[in-house]
Amino acid sequence: MAGLMVRGLTKHFPGSSKPVLVDFNLAVAPGETVVIMGPSGAGKSTLLRVIDRLLEPDEGEVFWNGIPVHQLQGEQLRRWRRQVGFVFQQHSLFERMTVLENCLLGPRLAGIPEAQARERALAALARVGLAHLADRWPAQLSGGERQRVAIARALSMEPELMLWDEPTASLDPLLVGEVKQCLAALAAERSCAMLVVTHEVGFAWEIASRVVLMEAGRKVEEGEPGELFSHPRTELGRKYRQLISEGLALYLTNK
Ligand SMILES: Nc1ncnc2c1ncn2[C@@H]1O[C@H](COP(=O)(O)OP(=O)(O)OP(=O)(O)O)[C@@H](O)[C@H]1O
Ligand SMILES: [Mg+2]
Repeated sequence: MAGLMVRGLTKHFPGSSKPVLVDFNLAVAPGETVVIMGPSGAGKSTLLRVIDRLLEPDEGEVFWNGIPVHQLQGEQLRRWRRQVGFVFQQHSLFERMTVLENCLLGPRLAGIPEAQARERALAALARVGLAHLADRWPAQLSGGERQRVAIARALSMEPELMLWDEPTASLDPLLVGEVKQCLAALAAERSCAMLVVTHEVGFAWEIASRVVLMEAGRKVEEGEPGELFSHPRTELGRKYRQLISEGLALYLTNK
């Protein structure tokens, strides 16, 4: 199958009696935006980390275009990581590098010739609307701009899969809009497979091809957002419907 396929992922952290992932299955096709939602501690970040091989599962498999990612080692594993753009909740820019240098780092590490690396980095910054800030230092940016640079840094790798872990969560509410717009534009391009963890139901409603609800390490419900949020089949789904009915009205009036 083209895209990402996750089968039977199970993980316990040592010293904890509760599993963090339980027989978790998921598929994300190229061009699809799958949004994962669930309460704090549900295992969402752990899932993304296992997919990127920052953590090893106890059981289960991860395939990308049919390639067994869970078996990759050494250079092959590094090559896999370079195909994945990971945008963390806590954006970690390199403070002693300019905006452009932050975005050049990945392509340079991948051995891309300098002229082409610069072209890519500048194109990535242009996509998030920040080409004019290429020579700034991270300390001279707002929170929203910093997060957009983090996105550009991931984009400069021209990833086929993007993993987003609450990309708007650490931002001032006034800055959330610009990062959301940026993510929505990328989702609309439909060029790569995107897996987005967010707590924002209105946002999920707008960008998701599919929403996956997760609780205590398990997938509890999955569906197209209009269908899932209007006809939830689980208690968790009903809680989100409630939030939608309260929050979406607000969201729509803010548009
Ligand atoms: N390195 C670790 N060692 C031990 N337990 C961990 C570790 N990382 C996460 N956990 C535990 O695993 C569970 C799931 O954590 P995870 O970060 O995946 O949740 P989450 O769904 O992303 O939550 P949030 O919405 O708060 O970010 C939590 O109970 C957490 O305390
Ligand atoms: Mg998390």
